[in-house]
Amino acid sequence: MKNLLKMSDLTPAEVVHILDVADQLKAEQKAGGTAPLLAGKTVALMFSKSSTRTRTSFEVGVYQLGGLGNYMNAATELQAGRGEPLKDTARVLGRYYDCVVWRTYRQRDLEEFAEYAGVPVINGLTDYAHPCQVLADLMTIRERRGPLEGQKLCFVGDGSSMANSLIVGGLLAGMQVTCVCPSSYRPAADVLMFAHKYGSRFHLTNDPAEGVQDADVVVTAVWNTAAPGTRESEERLREFAGYQLTGSLLQGAKPDHMVLHCLPARRGEEISTAVFESHADEIFTEAENRLHVQKAVLAILLAGK
Ligand code: CP
Repeated sequence: MKNLLKMSDLTPAEVVHILDVADQLKAEQKAGGTAPLLAGKTVALMFSKSSTRTRTSFEVGVYQLGGLGNYMNAATELQAGRGEPLKDTARVLGRYYDCVVWRTYRQRDLEEFAEYAGVPVINGLTDYAHPCQVLADLMTIRERRGPLEGQKLCFVGDGSSMANSLIVGGLLAGMQVTCVCPSSYRPAADVLMFAHKYGSRFHLTNDPAEGVQDADVVVTAVWNTAAPGTRESEERLREFAGYQLTGSLLQGAKPDHMVLHCLPARRGEEISTAVFESHADEIFTEAENRLHVQKAVLAILLAGK
């Protein structure tokens, strides 16, 4: 692994290795602390958009591994926000830092940045992919329910970054994957092409009841991403009617099913308050595992773990 830009950058063996290292680092952290695997290393934490979990888990993770993590608001603090070409920012930061984490909008900007940086680049979320989140989801499922192979993972929501990454990640991990989304909010075409190679292990539907049937794990994410009161928000509320994870919908899943949500959550839209609260321990363990899995990615990229 040279960078972590999207889940399809990884092989099945690399996914397992990241999860194994994350489990080990989590156990070590709980027992008192991890070894200073990043001593003397520097990580740029570049954010062009807001973040609670990604920013803070990387900051804390780099500190726990003995490195230096520098947060920078790329929209308001860097010259990149005033038009400096991306490839110039990449070539500068690549000379100061050993690794760059970037949250931005377009995947192609991230890919261009990685081409010029000369150091490992990690995707902190783009419109196309959220690999760090999905690795934390897989870690949480394995921790709670055992081996991933054969388990049924169902995503209900917008076919954007989370769906794209869960489909690829779940299939690489040996899971059965169902994606439930309205016809006009489907996952990316290349992700569907990737998934169709897995034959009956992948299913795409716009029927939430059919999708969650016998699921071991049901995952959702915010689908009303538009500003409240706007035409787009109204349209999304119409298109996603029936896509809320409710107790009634989840009756079709396995009796001991898990529910995951990458957060932040909009209760009453993609998930009911009752479902959210009854699965809160799983959801907040998922958030905690961002820390451990990202430490694993950093340790593999920068310390040869
Ligand atoms: N799930 C997630 O990426 O959270 P943040 O937007 O708070 O980083």
